[in-house]
Amino acid sequence: MVKINPEEIKNDFSIFNQKIHGNRLVYLDNGATTQKPLQVIKAMDEYNNLSHGNPHRGTHKLSISATEAYDLAKEKVKKFINAKYINEIIFTRNTTESLNLIAYSYGKEFINERDEIVLSISEHHSNILPWQRIAKEKKAILKYMYLNEESRLTLDEIKNKITTKTKIVSIAHMSNALGTIYPIEEIIDYAHKMGAVVVVDGAQSTPHMKVDVQKIHADFFVFSAHKMLGPMGIGVLYGKKELLEKMPPFMMGGDMIEYVYEQEATFAPLPYKFEAGTQNVEGAVGLKAAIEYLEKVGIDKIKEHEKMLTEYALDKMLNLPYIDIQGPKTLEMRGGIISFTIDNIHPHDIATILDSYGIAIRAGHHCAQPLMRYLDVPATSRVSFYLYNTKEDIDQFIEGIKNVRKWFGYGS
Ligand code: ALA
Repeated sequence: MVKINPEEIKNDFSIFNQKIHGNRLVYLDNGATTQKPLQVIKAMDEYNNLSHGNPHRGTHKLSISATEAYDLAKEKVKKFINAKYINEIIFTRNTTESLNLIAYSYGKEFINERDEIVLSISEHHSNILPWQRIAKEKKAILKYMYLNEESRLTLDEIKNKITTKTKIVSIAHMSNALGTIYPIEEIIDYAHKMGAVVVVDGAQSTPHMKVDVQKIHADFFVFSAHKMLGPMGIGVLYGKKELLEKMPPFMMGGDMIEYVYEQEATFAPLPYKFEAGTQNVEGAVGLKAAIEYLEKVGIDKIKEHEKMLTEYALDKMLNLPYIDIQGPKTLEMRGGIISFTIDNIHPHDIATILDSYGIAIRAGHHCAQPLMRYLDVPATSRVSFYLYNTKEDIDQFIEGIKNVRKWFGYGS
């Protein structure tokens, strides 16, 4: 496989042309959001300059061109994740909204008293809070699968927690806080045997690996555009048609109805019943352009590149005795996210000092407070890689860490 050339790729990203605090930008916060290539920005500009109108609502040329742009973006997403039908793709604001929609709509209709909802302890708050709310409302039981010392879910734990009482399993494909990739096919297979429906939070996996929702038999699969070179404000909810058809609408408003009477209403077919209000066409156009960009580079090549960077970074970090890696220490079933702590230095201090050298990382609880409590750490620092990162970025980050230690009076 021909390797990707991140330096060449960087030429498509104007953000790297600037200095940050007088330094070259080392952007290692791709788990939070990714940067946009010129191709994505240009596609959105062209749409805004030539084709912008309110989709599905007019007979004039611009409304029709907006409708076409929106539908083409859906077709692109459908192919990208290999959904069976286009009306299985719902555009939302982001992964959070997609998860809320499922919990509210599916949960309200199908979860009953004493039913069990199973999550992993490493879930993002977006995949905990909607389920907490529905569990409280329905008097259902929220259960957690815990990780072993290598930050992995064992088959025993999966089988202990998912039982015939389980109605929903909702789990990240890849943990945003640890980088662990969960054995999603095994989990889905086992959950289906127990009669449960599985929701996969693909926010951290979809940008970095080939996703095939039919192959893994996901019932629901959700992700956001802004973590895969696209714009903020647009996300995807994939759901199996037979499930989506049975679910009530989440939000009420324009474009999701069939007929509205004074006291009653009937709703539009899929996907419109879940897309109330004016849709984010500009965002959809940006997402389509982002997918085209990723496909042009090659998603498998991106995965290989990140694997190389992760191996390089892990090797360097494991050699520094004061760094404690929170998450898998080997390459097996992990992605390009590395969380770590350093004795006696708070993650926020690490991130702030690194920023002064032009190095962007994330520090905090990563919207995963139950995980932080489980790991018994207040917070972690996190680096996360993408297609434009280089070994040089990692070298600069490691130098930066040594400088952070010097700031605190420790040797390197
Ligand atoms: N969920 C995003 C992250 O992990 C914001 O940083």
